[in-house]
Amino acid sequence: MAKVLIGCETSGVVREAFLALGHDAWSCDLLPSDTPTNRHIQGDVLDVMQGDWDLMAVMHPSCTRLCNSGVRWLSKPPTGRSLQDMWSELDTGAALFSAVWNVSHIPCVAVENPVMHKHAKARIQNYQPPAQTVQPWQFATDPDGPDNERKRTCFWLRNLPLLKATGTLDGTSSRDSVHKASPGAERWKLRSKFFPGIAAAMADQWGYHASRLRQVAQIRNRPLNGETQCPPSPLKPLQIGGASVLPLFATCASKGASAIFGLGACTVFQQKS
Ligand SMILES: C[S@@+](CC[C@H](N)C(=O)[O-])C[C@H]1O[C@@H](n2cnc3c(N)ncnc32)[C@H](O)[C@@H]1O
Repeated sequence: MAKVLIGCETSGVVREAFLALGHDAWSCDLLPSDTPTNRHIQGDVLDVMQGDWDLMAVMHPSCTRLCNSGVRWLSKPPTGRSLQDMWSELDTGAALFSAVWNVSHIPCVAVENPVMHKHAKARIQNYQPPAQTVQPWQFATDPDGPDNERKRTCFWLRNLPLLKATGTLDGTSSRDSVHKASPGAERWKLRSKFFPGIAAAMADQWGYHASRLRQVAQIRNRPLNGETQCPPSPLKPLQIGGASVLPLFATCASKGASAIFGLGACTVFQQKS
């Protein structure tokens, strides 16, 4: 199972999807969790991500100034705000995106955001186009369920496979409630709340991928000690260039999927002894 950090999430939608599949999942946000949980860290994702994580998914880091739909505010600020505020918020949003996107010690990283405008792209370090764009309805099975919605969602992915759609609908009955959310103090939250169908697919597909990488890393990092690598071979060792290889391979091969790793580890052990 993978150790998973869901950054910039108060709703817990993605965290709960990973927890449901047995992953060691935590959400983190500057704000408290929307619902009671002991799996939320209230803090700065830039600090929390310094831990030992297999996968970090940052769900919609503050994007108001990065996304295409808000580009107009960079030339005409909303009432009560200055143009300088708008550009400074753009710099802050781009710096957060850059920091999570370029984190080097976490093997698998996903960042979710809406479509970005050119000023945001220019400010992001090592910017690349999103790996994929999905719609919530592609992960919906019930026309009346919460996933049958239209909202273009971009994923920037590092070391993760493209998400495969899991839905059964064709989009013709999809709703547009996200864009039609009525103005109010909670509008930004409604607009950025994540969809359970995509979250379940992420937990299933990316959680599996990150767990496999963790297993491979654990096997590679095991100490080179014959007793912990493979059981002793009942066969007489074959000497090949000073190494005893084949009998150990035969022993490990009988253990199925671990044969390849067993061969590598045992061969090295034999060469050393
Ligand atoms: C657009 S909302 C995303 C909501 C999310 N999709 C959900 O379902 O809860 C952006 C969130 O990023 C959080 N945020 C912004 N900067 C942050 C930081 N440096 N560390 C942690 N959270 C941050 C905000 O508090 C806000 O809750």
